[in-house]
Amino acid sequence: MTADFSEETSADAVAASFEAAPDRLRTVLVSLVRHLHGFIRDVGLTQREWEAAVEFLTATGQKCDDTRQEFILLSDGLGVSMLVDAVNHRRPAGATASTVLGPFHVVDSPPRELGADIAAGVSARTGGEPCLVTGRVVGTTGEPLPGALVDIWQADHRGFYDVQHPDRGAVGSLRGLFTCDDEGRFRFRTVVPAPYPIPSDRPVGVLLAATGRHPNRPAHIHVIAGAAGYEPVTTHVFVAGSPWLDSDAVFGVKRSLIREFRAVDDPAEATRNGIPNPYRHAEFDIVLQPAPDGVRRDG
Ligand code: BEZ
Ligand code: FE
Repeated sequence: MTADFSEETSADAVAASFEAAPDRLRTVLVSLVRHLHGFIRDVGLTQREWEAAVEFLTATGQKCDDTRQEFILLSDGLGVSMLVDAVNHRRPAGATASTVLGPFHVVDSPPRELGADIAAGVSARTGGEPCLVTGRVVGTTGEPLPGALVDIWQADHRGFYDVQHPDRGAVGSLRGLFTCDDEGRFRFRTVVPAPYPIPSDRPVGVLLAATGRHPNRPAHIHVIAGAAGYEPVTTHVFVAGSPWLDSDAVFGVKRSLIREFRAVDDPAEATRNGIPNPYRHAEFDIVLQPAPDGVRRDG
């Protein structure tokens, strides 16, 4: 006879039930159960709190659809997405740090020529501060990566992504897929993005409000960069001086990703860059690490 199920034996009893599971599944489930049972004992979870947790998770699932993934947002808000990223992307010093993907990479970025204006239409319609972004994709020993792909997407100067405003502009605006030149360089014109709140009208927003947390993210531009033979990186460039850099709702800020969006007032330089004067200029070089087997992976 095994011992009765009790506070003392619960984790062992459930762990033992996974004995026949395949290796990795058993490892993951046993650890999950031990942490979960430990957590319940630790806080002395009440019956009412258990019910509230079930209701919360049920509501979270019910709010998921083709365009909204409330569970990922929950993972983001609890720092889990960033931790999973950290565990899976232990990059060498000097390589560009990764951060969260976020929920707005929902449409393919349109391929664009180097120097293109990804905000065309947006800035003409609604204003916004003109911005030039330039950079270079290199390997960890500084070798240029010609033909590297740089996928860009961002919110506008009011903090909205194109997909949040289907009526206001073509989906694909403030997005672009760029192929770097022979020296690994890329450049594009845009507007300076604004900080914005993560979607907070549903369970995750309720959780943030209940805990006195704000839902905001500091201003940023999303980047996925990749090149043949190198590990791709999913990252952001953050606007120096933006509010919320020290309290990003999804814990995505890394100091190495913050850049000055320098104010430029130089009509000749603006004309050369095909951008209205004055404008802002951000430089963001991206350093990729070689793939262990020299084979490019997506992700
Ligand atoms: C974003 O930056 O697009 C984002 C990331 C995580 C949660 C919500 C939004
Ligand atoms: Fe974003």
